[in-house]
Order: sequence, then C-alpha cells, then structure tokens
Amino acid sequence: MSLNINALGLNFNTPLCLLSGNAGYGTEYLKVSGFNYDAIGAVFLKGTTEAERYGNPPERVTETPYGLMNAIGLQNPGAAAVIRDLLPKLNWDGSPHFIPNISGFSIDEYALLAQAFDQTPVPAIEINISCPNVKKGGAAFGNDPDLSAKVVEACRTVTTKPLIIKLSPNQTDISESARRCIEAGANALSAINTVSAMAIDIHTRKPRLGNNQGGLSGPAIKPIALLAVHKVYQVAKNHNVPIIGQGGITNSDDAIEFMLAGATLIGVGTALAKDPMIAGKIIKGIQKYMDKYGYTHVGQITGALELHDNSSGCTPASCLTK
Ligand SMILES: Cc1cc2nc3c(=O)[nH]c(=O)nc-3n(C[C@H](O)[C@H](O)[C@H](O)COP(=O)(O)O)c2cc1C
Repeated sequence: MSLNINALGLNFNTPLCLLSGNAGYGTEYLKVSGFNYDAIGAVFLKGTTEAERYGNPPERVTETPYGLMNAIGLQNPGAAAVIRDLLPKLNWDGSPHFIPNISGFSIDEYALLAQAFDQTPVPAIEINISCPNVKKGGAAFGNDPDLSAKVVEACRTVTTKPLIIKLSPNQTDISESARRCIEAGANALSAINTVSAMAIDIHTRKPRLGNNQGGLSGPAIKPIALLAVHKVYQVAKNHNVPIIGQGGITNSDDAIEFMLAGATLIGVGTALAKDPMIAGKIIKGIQKYMDKYGYTHVGQITGALELHDNSSGCTPASCLTK
C-alpha cells in the first residue's frame, strides 16, 4: 500500500500537508513534545509579504460554533528576513517539503516575492491571492479572475519553480478563476482559503475581531470547500493540475471526502491547534480506508466520486417510493 504522491515533479511522503498560517515557519511545532513530521508530506509556511508587517489590531481570532475566525492581517517578518534567518533552519531533504506562501499588495510585489524565493532551496511557491483579512491586496486579486491571471503571469515570468495558486471561496465562480490561473501558468491549486465572515459581541455592540471582519475556517466551511474542490477538479483534471484540498478537515473521513472530490494532496490548518498529533491519525485512517476498499495507491482515491445520475429527474419510481 503506497501513500507516496508524485505531484509538481516532487515526491511527497504522504498526501497530508500543514497549511499556511497554522504551522509557523516550519520549526515551531517541533517544540511540542511528541510532534514529528513523519506523517506529513509538506508544510506551507506563514504568508510572507515584501515588508515586515505587524498585522491587524486585536482581537485577531475568535471562536464560533464549528469554526474559527481570524483576521491576523499577514503578520510576518518580511521576505528578506524569512529568507535570511528562517529558511536556513529547515531541512531541505523533502521530508517534508517546506513551501513558502506569498502575498502582495500589487502585481509587482507578487513578482518580486516569487523572484526572491526563486533564489532559495524551496521546491515550489504558494501564491495567496485570497486572503480576506487585509484591506488592500489579497482577496482583491483572488476575487477577480483577470487580476488572478495577471498575478500568476507576472510570477511565472520570474521563476521556473512550480506555482501553487490559493483560490478564494469568496467569489462567484471559482472554476473560472481556476481555469484562468491554469492558463496563466499555475502548476497546482489550493482550495479553499477562509470564508469571509463576521461575529458580533451583543453587549459591546462591536464586531468581535479588531478588523471588524475576518476569515472563517474549520469544520463550518467543510461543505463549502468540498463543493469548491469538486468544481475546480472539473477544470483542473483536464490539465493534470493537482489540487491541495482544504477547509475544515479534522479526521481521515474528511480528508477522504476531499480526495474523492478531486484533491491530490489534503491540508490541515485549524484542527492542528486542537490536536498537534492529528496528521498521524489522519494517515492511519486513510490506510484503513484503502485496506477496506482495496486501494493499493492513495492517488487512486483522487476524483473517485460517483455522482448521482439525475438525468431522468424525479419519477414516482425513483423518488416517491423512498
Ligand atoms: C490563524 C490562521 C492564519 C492563516 N494564515 C494564512 C496565510 O498567511 N496565508 C494563507 O494563504 N492562508 C492562511 N490561512 C488559511 C489556511 O491556510 C487554510 O487555507 C484555511 O484555514 C482552511 O483550512 P482549515 O479549515 O483546515 O483551517 C490562515 C488560517 C488561519 C486559521
């Protein structure tokens, strides 16, 4: 039984990834007793901008039923410091792969960041065009397929490293965005980023987050994310472009749902804070599922979803007797 995935010209030990903003710059979780990277194929590093950023005013996270809302506002030390001080602390043997996540406030900034990371040992670059928590930039690009494509084109001209584009769920047609990004040179797609949301404290009559609004993650967004992955897969499969499925995964059943919908790799973000050892449990569950249904390679699950045939509509025989 094989859990290896070959994608983006890289070998991933397992299909499970730790998502950007939830695993720091790759070394933080190693301080947690018992944590290791054995079950993890890739770690996406915290979103990085050209200049250092202090992020949004507090509160930056708040819990909601079944989800977490955040408006961190891309706090990070800036690309030069990440490249100079943080990347050298990581192992570049590919187990796991460490992949930077870049965010810009202009197309030029995205290109500059892609060029900066091109000069480093990173095996690929994730481009966040979908951060809902900064006023300018981020989602402003990801919610407009034209701008999304322009960001990808600009980055494509400055690096030959694989480009992973992180798509926004906060747009009308995510499959159109996927198509435009692929045509512009995307090698993989991450779906989805957090969903724009608000929470209000009824006693102060103020939003719970200092930024007034934020991005919702965790189990609350899983059904939204699954449909998005299913839609993106309808486009991406024709171009052999892999999807990193994410949004609310908390156990192996969730992860398998994302793979059935079309994800090649799957990612865990919010759930990691509750259980830092979650990766090993998810991988064990996937192995059990593969054993039960006779899959010899984890990649065989990708896209194995069988849609209902509704072509004849609802008839007394098919519907009313149920
Ligand atoms: C606290 C927090 C910080 C995040 N920071 C980033 C980021 O810097 N860049 C990015 O592309 N996504 C960021 N995300 C989005 C996650 O990478 C992920 O796409 C999203 O949370 C959905 O997965 P989940 O439900 O498993 O958390 C962040 C999410 C959270 C909860």
